[in-house]
Amino acid sequence: MLTRRTVIKLGAVAAAGFPRFAIGQTAKIRIGVMLPFTGTYASLGEMGISGLKLALSQHGNKFGGREVEIVTLDDESDPARAPSNATKLIKGDNVDILFGTVHSGVAMGMVKVARETNTLMVIPNAGVAAATGPLCAPNIFRSSMTMWQPAFPMGKVAYDRGYRNVVSITWKYVAGEESIAGFKEGFEAAGGKVVKEITVPFPDVEFQANLAEIASLKPDAVFTFFSGGGAVKFVKDYAAAGLRKSIPLLGSGFLTEGTLEAIGEPAEGILTTLHYADTLDLPANKKFRAEFKKAYGKDPDLFAVQGYDAGELLAVGLGAVKGDVNAKTELYSSMERTVLDSPRGHLAFSPSHNPIQDIYLREVRKGQNIVLNVAAKAVSDPSRGCKMMPA
Ligand code: PHB
Repeated sequence: MLTRRTVIKLGAVAAAGFPRFAIGQTAKIRIGVMLPFTGTYASLGEMGISGLKLALSQHGNKFGGREVEIVTLDDESDPARAPSNATKLIKGDNVDILFGTVHSGVAMGMVKVARETNTLMVIPNAGVAAATGPLCAPNIFRSSMTMWQPAFPMGKVAYDRGYRNVVSITWKYVAGEESIAGFKEGFEAAGGKVVKEITVPFPDVEFQANLAEIASLKPDAVFTFFSGGGAVKFVKDYAAAGLRKSIPLLGSGFLTEGTLEAIGEPAEGILTTLHYADTLDLPANKKFRAEFKKAYGKDPDLFAVQGYDAGELLAVGLGAVKGDVNAKTELYSSMERTVLDSPRGHLAFSPSHNPIQDIYLREVRKGQNIVLNVAAKAVSDPSRGCKMMPA
């Protein structure tokens, strides 16, 4: 019998998160994609969304049996506008999931809004430690890395190559600073010394004065974090300043991702560490690269892989709850337990929702990042400060 009481009870069930699509089963899952589509990181944003869309198309444009609709927003790598942009997607466009971004400062603004609104957020690139550290949360996942993960193993590599005094140079913002800190931790633990840390404002690309300073300091090597358009300019300027032959350039592998064609010959010989390489001899990588090329007519890079894996992670999680984004406990625990046969290799997730993955040592040869060896196996970020509460 349908009494007033049962109606109230049904109302309570709806409020507690009964799936919206129960009426008519037609509602689509809406994913709000916040990425940079302009500026120095534009190509990274383009690759990220292409990877996501490839995963989606391989699942018939459905996650967990529900159609997916993507709403995009160019975040312009502008941290100041990140909270209002994320709020607009969630409140204005009614997205169920927040997907983004590349720039760590922007990601921090998104994390704040995702935590306040308890919206599922997947980070396909930004490496800021706090997102899976002090600000970790049941609803926040990352398919990429922390800045520490690829940078730390380079410390030992550099020391083993005989370098003792290294100068670092990066953009002055959280991702650059955490990348340098990761390298420094590994390098100084091995016995080396970072003798000078140079920074330039983000996204500036005027390096002349800094390169002159490096020339006068004469370190054994230079370690750097730059990416996108800025990486292209830095590597070219480094060679043009005549430093390339005398002072080896080392980096987190972002430096030589998606940039080799634009840099050309000056990139040859650069040594980097990263959780991916185009040339990885793995069946999943070959398949992914062929399918990406078929879909977009160009070769993917790390940023496409991370977008693709974020899509695969969502496919698994939403598959487990049949597309019900409100079945949070089951959705998050299924995502947490996901193990992917990623183009980068075996990919699992830590309790803080950050990837556990191998870090490869790569060298640029004939315009390609060639894998020399695995610099560190199954690297997991320490996730300092993460206290995960139940969903
Ligand atoms: C970041 O801001 O976290 C970031 C940006 C570009 C990269 C990697 C990390 O290539």
